[in-house]
Amino acid sequence: MCGIVGYVGGRPALDVVIEGLARLEYRGYDSAGVALLAEGRLATAKRAGKLVNLRGALEEEPPPAGTLGMGHTRWATHGPPNDRNAHPHVDCTGTVAVIHNGIIENFAALRGELEEAGHKLGSDTDTEAVAHLLEDELKSGGDLAAAMRRVCRRLEGAFTLVAVHTGDPDLVVGARRNSPLVVGVGDGENFLASDVAAFIAHTRDAIELGQDQIVELRAGGVTVTDFEGRPAEVKEYHVDWDVSAAEKGGYDYFMLKEIAEQPRAVADTLLGRIGTDGRLTLDEMRISDQELREVDKIIIVACGTSFHAGLIAKYAIEHWAGLPCEVELASEFRYRDAILSPTTLVIAISQSGETMDALMAVRHAREQKAKLLGICNVNGSTLPRECDGVLYTHAGPEIAVASTKAFLTQLVAVYLIALYIAQVRGTKWGDEVFAMVQLLERMPEKVEKVLETMEPVRELARSLAGERCVLFLGRHVGFPVALEGALKLKELAYMHAEGFAAGELKHGPIALIESGLPVVVVVPPRARDVLHDKIVSNIQEIRARGARTIVIAEEGDASVEPYADTLIGVPAVPTLLQPLVTTVPLQVFACELATAKGHDVDQPRNLAKSVTVE
Ligand code: G6P
Repeated sequence: MCGIVGYVGGRPALDVVIEGLARLEYRGYDSAGVALLAEGRLATAKRAGKLVNLRGALEEEPPPAGTLGMGHTRWATHGPPNDRNAHPHVDCTGTVAVIHNGIIENFAALRGELEEAGHKLGSDTDTEAVAHLLEDELKSGGDLAAAMRRVCRRLEGAFTLVAVHTGDPDLVVGARRNSPLVVGVGDGENFLASDVAAFIAHTRDAIELGQDQIVELRAGGVTVTDFEGRPAEVKEYHVDWDVSAAEKGGYDYFMLKEIAEQPRAVADTLLGRIGTDGRLTLDEMRISDQELREVDKIIIVACGTSFHAGLIAKYAIEHWAGLPCEVELASEFRYRDAILSPTTLVIAISQSGETMDALMAVRHAREQKAKLLGICNVNGSTLPRECDGVLYTHAGPEIAVASTKAFLTQLVAVYLIALYIAQVRGTKWGDEVFAMVQLLERMPEKVEKVLETMEPVRELARSLAGERCVLFLGRHVGFPVALEGALKLKELAYMHAEGFAAGELKHGPIALIESGLPVVVVVPPRARDVLHDKIVSNIQEIRARGARTIVIAEEGDASVEPYADTLIGVPAVPTLLQPLVTTVPLQVFACELATAKGHDVDQPRNLAKSVTVE
């Protein structure tokens, strides 16, 4: 949600900033803009729409060359996505420029105050107030960093701010509260960005900034302080992937590449999890075995696709670890009176580690003294820092807005955590855990097998591009898979799609079935005979009412053949692990159908990859 890039060094800043924005465009693509300091002047350019529009404007009217600059790609919150509301925003003197990610909640009061004092604000954004506040603070003395500190102390809400000022021609200043900002440390050059993808082509050395910190970026060094100006502690780290991971690598879309990367992503997430003593190891676990043994309830909080991983986790945790488990939408969690205590374990799942709803849920749980465990894909993000333990999913950078490989690795993570808890609490013997991990280790090859057989699914998707609605049904862990299949179709194809628990069909949704309606049904393995047979009956019920049935079932499951208009076979795997293979055809289906409709699957309308506002 809004991508931010800042640069100071020896290269042409415009090139570095535009390249960074191209890598961050997945965070928002309502408008884009840049600000450069060159020849003692501030030059800005901004355009509504995708980055391509800004590039066009810059080609028509090239700005003066400079080696310090910043850029922004927007996901609109305050004010429609037009040129006027695009960032950067400048002050009345045209010497200060600001870009912003987040929401400044007290902006209306600040804006009123500024207008009363004679400032002219030209946009509908909350951000512009900051440029004018900086203008006033700079008049009262000190450099841009000092002014930013004073301004930040007055702001409420969530923000990453980056500013430049003609009076400090070698300085880029960043500020961070609740929204992401990382520093890239180069040789004679330094970078600021919402995430490392923006500067990964130049450096893999990064600094993670904490809450309420100000960073001063110069070509020769980086200084980090808090909002009071005291030196702040920061964490340096090395990014373990390179620029090729953030490129399309010959695919038309990042989404296609990320779907194809799933076998490797699953394998990487499993790598090195079994220690020499045969015990499972997680990445950072600051919750002791004794504390885990005392846990009497687990609550999972997450959003979007990560929430669906949480729904699947519930089945694994209750089955293997024998603990009651609730799954909650992070955006709802802190607004009800959930009963938490020091013996509650809250597991937060977030690919980005920056989703504001998830972070707020974690903070709410922290206040209630619950233990916190994070599942996250992005090293250096906020969520792991706020949890007592973390398990990283090693999916590599996920750039397409709709989550695919991150989801599969989140499933691996929740299986590992369920097994870990089972091991610590003694609900499973070591050899049982080991046997299950061995089955997990075979999953990359099973996912690969699914990917090899996707041509009929693509064909089917193209044939359904004219449909208005698709329903998805599942039972047990197949139910969250149905929800995920429907979400993918909504996100990418902008079609009405709903996922239902197949058993609920008769309590209402069956009224939706009409002649020719495509219904995708996820069938449990034959080994779960009761579940399996019940869903076969459901397929017959909808077919009798005219539905066009698209059945995803274990290869060789002859019992569903007579009732399937289209049958998609997946390899036989244990029930709990089945989502790893049944989700993949649904991702391919949605991606292909959306592409057939002419949509950009990497950047679906109205969405952003990382939603850093509530
Ligand atoms: C956004 C994305 C979804 C994602 C959700 C949660 O809505 O568009 O694809 O599932 O955020 O993101 P997280 O990073 O917390 O997993």
